[in-house]
Amino acid sequence: MAVCKQYCFSLVFMTFLYVTCTLAANAQYNVESYGAKPDGKTDSTKAFMAAWTAACASTSPATINVPSGRFLLGSAITFGGQTCKSKAIRFEIDGTIVAPSDYNVIGKADNWIKFVRVSGVSIVGGTLDAKGAALWSCKSSSKSCPDGAGTLAFYNSNNVVIDGLSSQNSQKFHIRIESCHNAKLQGVKVSAAGNSPNTDGIHVQSSTGVTILNSHIGTGDDCISIGPGNSNLWIENIACGPGHGISIGSLGWKEQEAGVQNVTVKTATFTGTQNGLRIKTWARPSNGFVKNVVFQHAVMSNVKHPIIIDQNYCPNNQNCPHQGSGVKISNIKYKDIHGTSATQVAMTFECSKTQPCRGITLDDVNLTYKNHPAQASCSNAGGTSSGSVTPASCL
Ligand SMILES: *[C@@H]1O[C@H](CO)[C@@H](O)[C@H](O)[C@H]1NC(C)=O
Ligand SMILES: *[C@@H]1O[C@H](CO)[C@@H](O)[C@H](O)[C@H]1NC(C)=O
Repeated sequence: MAVCKQYCFSLVFMTFLYVTCTLAANAQYNVESYGAKPDGKTDSTKAFMAAWTAACASTSPATINVPSGRFLLGSAITFGGQTCKSKAIRFEIDGTIVAPSDYNVIGKADNWIKFVRVSGVSIVGGTLDAKGAALWSCKSSSKSCPDGAGTLAFYNSNNVVIDGLSSQNSQKFHIRIESCHNAKLQGVKVSAAGNSPNTDGIHVQSSTGVTILNSHIGTGDDCISIGPGNSNLWIENIACGPGHGISIGSLGWKEQEAGVQNVTVKTATFTGTQNGLRIKTWARPSNGFVKNVVFQHAVMSNVKHPIIIDQNYCPNNQNCPHQGSGVKISNIKYKDIHGTSATQVAMTFECSKTQPCRGITLDDVNLTYKNHPAQASCSNAGGTSSGSVTPASCL
């Protein structure tokens, strides 16, 4: 009996120790303890930086807490990770991080909130409000205005997680992942006006192993844009609209450019967007390429260009190059793509005269325009179709 009692006591004591140690191992850094104020007007930039510096120096996993309320980040901020000891830093955001109302304050920075050379950083929850609307209207007037800052960017980083974050009204791109390895974005919500300029939702460039899941993106430019140098990109369960669709490109502006390969876009809905599934390249010489892409299970609702490859991309129709794009496009699969087009030509393959598209496959496609089969248009495009394909393939 006594032995058992002692045993039980030890067990409880050990559990207590274990729990205490685990809690201690995950150090907490609340930005309010560093002077941040949830009043929406006190500049909390220094407090955020101090919390980051402390978390970064932690020898164990660290959590930076941003409580509910509105926190002003009054200038562009860079969280550098090169000297961090902690290999897991979690930003847990309950509140909203707001930009200054005067767009000039951050408008010349490349990004408002930037992470550089970090490893194992997660951003969980929260809202970023960049207050970009005043800059958009400046841009649509004839006034001179700054270029605008992207809202959140990760550069040269590994094992990044963005989970349940909302980004609204960015001055330019909402989220940028560049030169990163392994990033997982899920439950992201992007919202900006359908006519806001260059407000891409999620831009991925020069990265490998990026996954974007279960996200809802409505904005004025591409919902997701896939720049040069990406491989092993997985995009699944995305709602896009308003916006310019999910785009690979634009590519081939440069003569020397890394290619894009192994991209899967699976289960996506496009509502009232300019494009659905798009590949766009400039008509200039380039050694770039796009290969091994799967577009699968997409539903289009009143989309201007549901399926489009445009190798004569030139959005402003000014000084357009006409040399024939050097970007080689091959092995692009479209499977189970349904819905309605807002224009007669629902499927456009306008490929390069110098590097025709090869290996385009269509399988189970049905796109209608005003309750009738839509049309397809091809130039310099080769491939095959199987299953039922409407409009009839022109490959
Ligand atoms: C393609 O990318 C996926 C992740 O998106 C990865 O699991 C797969 O191994 C890659 N395939 C090749 C051939 O690299
Ligand atoms: C394509 O979709 C339309 C609208 O849903 C439908 O009426 C039509 O029968 C479908 N065509 C094929 C070949 O499945």
